[in-house]
Amino acid sequence: MSGEEAPTQHQQPEQEKKPNEPPPAASDAPQESESSPAAEEKPISWRALVLTGHGGYDKMKLQVKTESKPQLKAGEVLLRVKASGLNFAELLGRQGLYDMLPNPPVTMGMEGSGVVEAVGEDVKDRKVGDRVIALSRSGMWQEVVVVSADHTFPMPEHMSFEEGAALPINYLTAYLMLFDVANVRPGKSVLIHMAAGGVGIAATQLCQTVQDVTVFGTASASKHETIAQGGVTHPIDYRTKDYVQEILKISPTGVDIVLDPLGGLDTQKGFNLLKPLGMLIVFGAANCMTGQKKNLLALAKTWYNQLSLSTLKLMQANKGISGFHLGNLIDEQLVSRTMYELLELYKQGKIKLRIDSCYHFEEIVDAMKRMHERQNIGKVILLSEPKKEEEKPKTNAEPGENVEKTESVITEEEEAAEEVNAETD
Ligand SMILES: NC(=O)c1ccc[n+]([C@@H]2O[C@H](COP(=O)([O-])OP(=O)(O)OC[C@H]3O[C@@H](n4cnc5c(N)ncnc54)[C@H](OP(=O)(O)O)[C@@H]3O)[C@@H](O)[C@H]2O)c1
Repeated sequence: MSGEEAPTQHQQPEQEKKPNEPPPAASDAPQESESSPAAEEKPISWRALVLTGHGGYDKMKLQVKTESKPQLKAGEVLLRVKASGLNFAELLGRQGLYDMLPNPPVTMGMEGSGVVEAVGEDVKDRKVGDRVIALSRSGMWQEVVVVSADHTFPMPEHMSFEEGAALPINYLTAYLMLFDVANVRPGKSVLIHMAAGGVGIAATQLCQTVQDVTVFGTASASKHETIAQGGVTHPIDYRTKDYVQEILKISPTGVDIVLDPLGGLDTQKGFNLLKPLGMLIVFGAANCMTGQKKNLLALAKTWYNQLSLSTLKLMQANKGISGFHLGNLIDEQLVSRTMYELLELYKQGKIKLRIDSCYHFEEIVDAMKRMHERQNIGKVILLSEPKKEEEKPKTNAEPGENVEKTESVITEEEEAAEEVNAETD
């Protein structure tokens, strides 16, 4: 796998090759082998964010692990993670609503960037010192991980680690939906929900790579100026206005493509908004989440209001519905080709990664709150590097307490406040 394999923009994927197994989760760094000489090597310590159970922010713990250096299997690399991405899926995962995540205790994190620290046998196109982006099912929220070399991608020279970590999930999702599923073409119109979020901004930028695409984008009003500058033709404040009516005022026949990350009633509205031969792509269920803890009422409401119709109705309506789930996409070659295509678009300046904010591991609760409380415009990034001592937020931890111990990243006062908030959500 190399950068030269990247197809030209919007080129259809090659004839399907035998799909591989889905990418495994990045292993916690060490896999001790007693018989190997390396087992006698000095142990290494690294920090890992661990989800200790399903629930609120208090389930996130920062732990320091000390174990022997990992023994890499053939095809694997050891990565020193510099930055990783926070995704909506991890908010769901914390609440126990993301079924692709292994049961706690588990380290979450599906994307990151860093430096290759060691390579296993048979790794030909990665070497120690390479700056790479890495994809994984989980496990990226720690300082060191073992990943398959096939799931790493060389970073362009001028790309920062924060940018590298912001790219994979949001842009792969947006690209594959727009170009591989919906086949967006010049002159079409697209409704992008959560338009100021990670996937929303990625989708808007990718729409700009096609001539005359009209983008309707829903977002909180305070974010409209930014998303309009980013390419949303018609920003709509879904909180105070009926977005369906707003769209129909501008385009009485509706839209060609709806990207639906919300679920429930919004899926029904999206389907009704489609023009003939239009395509609705369902790729999330954000309506299920209302607060920091699982809300059974919101879950039931979203489930109850799901769009349900017969294929006959689709034929009669001349409309299409598709689903998209990157985590379930087992065609690794397609994902890999698309990553190289995205890196090419980045080099050409056609996609510009918008980082909303960066948080150190010890600030994971603030990072999650930023997304939960709908404050972010663009990507929320986690930094592996410890926060400098003088910058550290107040915690109840004693100095030096974190070595070989679990460090809670939420203070008791915060925990009490969150309990109250959760009850009122
Ligand atoms: N199927 C897949 O493969 C796939 C992959 C990636 C993401 N997704 C889905 O895409 C959606 C966006 O994901 P993302 O990671 O890019 O997150 P994100 O858009 O950055 O999410 C946060 C933003 O979404 C809006 N929002 C709407 N409903 C929300 C809610 N219930 N709670 C919090 N924020 C809400 C808020 O913006 P406003 O203030 O403007 O409302 C908020 O700032 C999610 O539904 C996610 O599950 C699916």
